Amino acid sequence: MTERWTPSSWRSKPIQQVPSYPDSEALAAVEQQLGTFPPLVFAGEARQLKRQLARVAEGKAFLLQGGDCAESFAEHSGDTIRDFLRLFLQMAVVLTYAGGLPVVKVGRVAGQFAKPRSSPNETVGDVTLPSYRGDIVNGIGFSAEERIPDPHRQLKAFRQSAATLNLLRAFTGGGYANLDNAHRWMLGFVKDSPLSDRYREIADRITEALDFMRACGIDPESSPEVRATQLYTSHEALLLGYEEALTRIDSTSGDWYATSGHMLWIGDRTRQLDHAHVEFFRGIENPIGLKCGPSLSPDELLRLIDVLNPDNEPGRLTLIARFGSDKVEAHLPALVRAVKKEGRAVVWSCDPMHGNTVTANGYKTRPFERIVGEISTFFDVHHAEGTHAGGIHLEMTGRNVTECTGGGRPLTADQLSDRYHTHCDPRLNAEQALDVTFLVAERLKRERLLKGRPVDAEAAE
Ligand code: TRP
Ligand code: MN
Repeated sequence: MTERWTPSSWRSKPIQQVPSYPDSEALAAVEQQLGTFPPLVFAGEARQLKRQLARVAEGKAFLLQGGDCAESFAEHSGDTIRDFLRLFLQMAVVLTYAGGLPVVKVGRVAGQFAKPRSSPNETVGDVTLPSYRGDIVNGIGFSAEERIPDPHRQLKAFRQSAATLNLLRAFTGGGYANLDNAHRWMLGFVKDSPLSDRYREIADRITEALDFMRACGIDPESSPEVRATQLYTSHEALLLGYEEALTRIDSTSGDWYATSGHMLWIGDRTRQLDHAHVEFFRGIENPIGLKCGPSLSPDELLRLIDVLNPDNEPGRLTLIARFGSDKVEAHLPALVRAVKKEGRAVVWSCDPMHGNTVTANGYKTRPFERIVGEISTFFDVHHAEGTHAGGIHLEMTGRNVTECTGGGRPLTADQLSDRYHTHCDPRLNAEQALDVTFLVAERLKRERLLKGRPVDAEAAE
């Protein structure tokens, strides 16, 4: 792997999960056009995120990553983006308050369009068609026409990402995310749930603290720390032609950065050492994630770390564990131990979604108990190994969907058909996501009390 890297050096490697575009000239023309488009994110922002993730690696911050399994062209609206953001802000504020730690906020948003599939084809009755690979590749409808990969979809995905990011930047910087608004982020359909009382309690205390500061002469409106927040974007960088076109040299550092999102991750299905995705990722300077599933051995993980983070730079690499509630205990400790023993600085994050997918009443779903089960075991393992349970990675939406079963007001398998809207995997709805958040908050609070860490000193940074 000491060969020269370029944004296109992945093209000479074996690759998994590539769509077969019927018209390669049209594809090349689209990639060429994307190459002339402005960047969606700046290298300086990616560096800032890396610094914040370095704090997570040190055990001094917590990573909250979440959003849609797959963004879709159909669900692109201001309300959807706003409702996702307000839920995400609520979750972040609860974790910040309980953990007494800064929370690094990273959305699966503004670029999360491409999906790896377990099979290249889908068969319904006696018809077999190419699988749906996300709106950036083809259409979800089960017709031959929709399933043909169309490169022009990449242009649409780019523009949708730009519009989404634009609104998120306005919300996070323009006053909506002001801590003074903590009460207003509550979504209507969550209001009559017991979770809303728990949330209101925290929001009350924050309001009180801000009133106190105001009385002391510190104006929250003029303090950017109170008035604004930073939401970073992330997605699985699966479609490497798209990523290559948006990879640019940063004029400040002279380094290559992917500009399609702040943080990109490699999926569990495309992390082969000598394949194209690992090759592409090794050359970009962004903070990156690596999904770690049950088939990953400690040795293989260390070799991947050698390639992806040769300088052992903290914040560069986030390992996203996704084993399943029944497998995490058997697999995670060996990986954590190996990484610790070799002195590799990483962020450990828990994806409790992808190893816990089951089928009920013909729907792909995820039982809430299994999701929280995996998170609990994740925290237990890190506690036992003396390492930092650094973050969570969730598939969630601010909409009131019925895609995962269980939760505080348990959703049954019979209710799945009510509002099952996902374009790919089942997401937590707002109430279930808050429910998970309070569970994580409890664990963070417990860790904090156990360590006897001076809360105020940490939170003030
Ligand atoms: N700026 C701080 C942060 O981003 C505090 C903050 C402002 C905040 N608005 C927020 C925290 C909304 C969580 C949610 O952490
Ligand atoms: Mn998914």
